[in-house]
Amino acid sequence: MTIDGDDDLQGLTRAGRAVAEARDAMLAAVEPGATTADLDAVGRRVLRSHGARSAPQLAVGFPAATCVSVNDEAAHGVPSPTRVLRAGDLVNVDVSAELDGYWADTGASTPVGPPESVAPVARRLVEATRAAQADAMNAARAGRPIGRIGRAVERCARRHGFRVIGNLCGHGVGAALHEGPSIPSIERMADDIALWEGLVLAVEPFLSTGADVAVEGRDGWTLRTPDGSLSAQFEHTIVVTHGRPLVLTAS
Ligand code: CO
Ligand code: CO
Repeated sequence: MTIDGDDDLQGLTRAGRAVAEARDAMLAAVEPGATTADLDAVGRRVLRSHGARSAPQLAVGFPAATCVSVNDEAAHGVPSPTRVLRAGDLVNVDVSAELDGYWADTGASTPVGPPESVAPVARRLVEATRAAQADAMNAARAGRPIGRIGRAVERCARRHGFRVIGNLCGHGVGAALHEGPSIPSIERMADDIALWEGLVLAVEPFLSTGADVAVEGRDGWTLRTPDGSLSAQFEHTIVVTHGRPLVLTAS
């Protein structure tokens, strides 16, 4: 959506705060021995305390309130009471919700357990993806073509020696979970439409240690790398301006 006045900004700010708090509470609950269903329960409680409704449940009938994806799972991992996190795993949480008709979307990745238990490449992948997401947000400016966002992600990934998962894209958001325009994380998939002031976007690059696509798993939900390589994602909902964007899902 494109923001039209203070009501929109306030509504989106409230939705953004709900998903950001849920994301941060889930990240704080990440530890060896926790299950992905434990994390989902934490996120669900925070969303409910804000009066927000899980977007994946509402929009696509997802079987949990949030998505929790581990290691080679890139996105849409289904939380399960039998999926136990172990030290050295890499976990992604993705939280999206609707509140009073406004929708926001955020995600983050973190290694599990003490630093010495985590492979250096996993730690580097998380930091590279965090940097790529920051670069992508700063490339999203009114008047610039959408492709600048993917260019920024690709440059950052290359600099760190990682691949961009090209078939997972950011998107417009605000009046629904997924709106136009699509925001590819690789420049060649983007069209040359210029961004405009007030446009609300979910910017979410996925980087991996080897794969440049994610494929659907047997459960019909989970998207994973075909070669087992690790994936990480960060996502924020932003409002495009002529300068740095307004980030609605900051901590
Ligand atoms: Co998301
Ligand atoms: Co999204």
